[in-house]
Amino acid sequence: MTASESVIPNNLDAFFMGFTANRQFKEKPRMVKAAKDMHYFAADNGRAILDGSAGLWCVHAGHCRQPIVDAISAAAGELDYGPTFNFGHPKVFELATRVTDLAGENFTHMFFGNSGSEAVESALKIAIGYHQARGEGSRTRLIGRERAYHGVNFGGMSVGGIVTNRAVFGPGLPGVDHLRHTHLPGQNKFTRGEVEHGVELAEDLERLVGLHGAQTIAAVIVEPFAGSTGVLPPPIGYLKRLREICDKHGILLIFDEVITGFGRLGTPFAEQYFGVTPDMITCAKGLTNAAVPMGGVIMGPHIYNAFMSGPPHVNELFHGYTYAGHPLAAAAGLATLDVYRDEGLFERVDALTDLWADTMHALKDAPYVTDIRTIGLVAAIDLEGEAGAPGKRGFEAGCKAFEEQDTMVRIAADSIILSPPFIISENQIDELATNVRATLEAL
Ligand SMILES: Cc1ncc(COP(=O)(O)O)c(C=O)c1O
Repeated sequence: MTASESVIPNNLDAFFMGFTANRQFKEKPRMVKAAKDMHYFAADNGRAILDGSAGLWCVHAGHCRQPIVDAISAAAGELDYGPTFNFGHPKVFELATRVTDLAGENFTHMFFGNSGSEAVESALKIAIGYHQARGEGSRTRLIGRERAYHGVNFGGMSVGGIVTNRAVFGPGLPGVDHLRHTHLPGQNKFTRGEVEHGVELAEDLERLVGLHGAQTIAAVIVEPFAGSTGVLPPPIGYLKRLREICDKHGILLIFDEVITGFGRLGTPFAEQYFGVTPDMITCAKGLTNAAVPMGGVIMGPHIYNAFMSGPPHVNELFHGYTYAGHPLAAAAGLATLDVYRDEGLFERVDALTDLWADTMHALKDAPYVTDIRTIGLVAAIDLEGEAGAPGKRGFEAGCKAFEEQDTMVRIAADSIILSPPFIISENQIDELATNVRATLEAL
């Protein structure tokens, strides 16, 4: 097979693709067949596609990195599968220690699942179990936030705040309520990092405590910045205030760091970037550089220790997944953390942040742009929607970027979201912005 030979199958019908306009895709597929470092290679003609979104915000170290490939290959030939219910294998214990060390001294234990969605379900159940174990079984209520995305399972969907989820799949779990979102486009515009206005929105938690009673609330879950609904950095002081209110009322605070975990803001986790310590952190994506599915919940000693009572032969946590801590994922995770450390990739994100923000904000005068928000190595470029067809302009921009500018970007409604791998060069940051501008000019 030559590099430019098409490998697109004749029949695309059988695969029901999630989060995809299936009919449009199957008529005009945007298919990739290989990847290396900052690029994908298209399945039709082999052209290189600049990866402006690190896949789905997950390939932090770039594609097909040799140490990770080698670690997975070796693991596959050594231990293809090993249960982690009542048995174990060394690498998963090593990985838990490495990740908790990275999260800092407040974090000591880790639970493993296979995705961000499973991490969220697990954290919510651990929160309820924690209160139960401490004799506060009335604390079962979960608080999320409008415009939050916490994955697609029923718990995550319920604490999430995305209208389509609710409109299509029903009300979700009972006993869930939501804080107001923090997006104030009238007040915060063309922002870098945390936004100036909106800290008072944290007081919404006091309103929910007043409505439901603190003794019914188990946990509050928030993304440090909302990612999938358009990159909404928090107001200055907002997360700190949420932490204070949680402490005052005995409510656990969970940061969903599925996107922000492993360096996206230049620190290992966003909790370090914002200087606010949650009780639990959910993670996935960058944990294995996305090379093998894996997610998890990182927690402080108070959470783990609360479960360590009862007779010693009884499971302390009645929850788990067959593939939890899978040997291939554990090997990928360890190799990934080595790459992050050896190449100083989190520090690289920090060093690139100003150049990134300057380059992205220079798109302000491109056609249709109404707002730009940057934080860490992330940018959202809001476009003026087409009258009567919300999301259409964004969708067309995403398709055009791939087809005409050889660039992969992520689209959230009418926003272009950029979150490249951390190995992006200064020139490639320029190239990405140039390609986005050309895409908008061609719309
Ligand atoms: C904040 C957050 N939580 C959870 C998820 C779900 O992760 P997954 O798609 O791995 O289930 C995502 C995915 O983008 C996310 O951004």
